[in-house]
Amino acid sequence: MAGLFINGAVDDASVKAFDELENSVKSLINAAIEARKHAYCPYSKFAVGAAIQTDDGHIYTGSNIENGAYSASLCAERVAVAKAVSEGKRQIAAVAVVGLQENSFTTPCGLCRQFLMEFAKTDFPIYVAKPINPPLRVLCTSISQLLPKSFKLDF
Ligand code: THU
Repeated sequence: MAGLFINGAVDDASVKAFDELENSVKSLINAAIEARKHAYCPYSKFAVGAAIQTDDGHIYTGSNIENGAYSASLCAERVAVAKAVSEGKRQIAAVAVVGLQENSFTTPCGLCRQFLMEFAKTDFPIYVAKPINPPLRVLCTSISQLLPKSFKLDF
């Protein structure tokens, strides 16, 4: 029913079976599932894992890292971006994010969308799945779909 999901209705066409995906995408999702095991989330108890493939094929992972001063917390996606960028990478090729919510996909938060967009030379796919082995369904979207008409400093 339209309007049922306040975080944006998921178009069935963008949800694929894990088995149908290319091996490189499966590996990226599995890397995010592994990274989620290292989440430090004593406050929310909500563990998230992310994996970023850069244009040279390398995979950088991240998990959320919370802090007693809550606003200092980091999302899994930004941890993964920080690892890639601080190793000299500047172009994201694909992203996977995993979080366990029963009724929705854990898509990147608004701040992380902006953070990811900074390193988008072209649009890149974002795969969102549940951290079960193997995940059954995967939301296949992209940075431009998640952050349309985005801000980028032009200099
Ligand atoms: N979180 C992420 O790491 N990534 C997301 O895409 C959504 C939210 C984290 C932030 C916080 O540690 C916890 O999940 C609950 O919001």
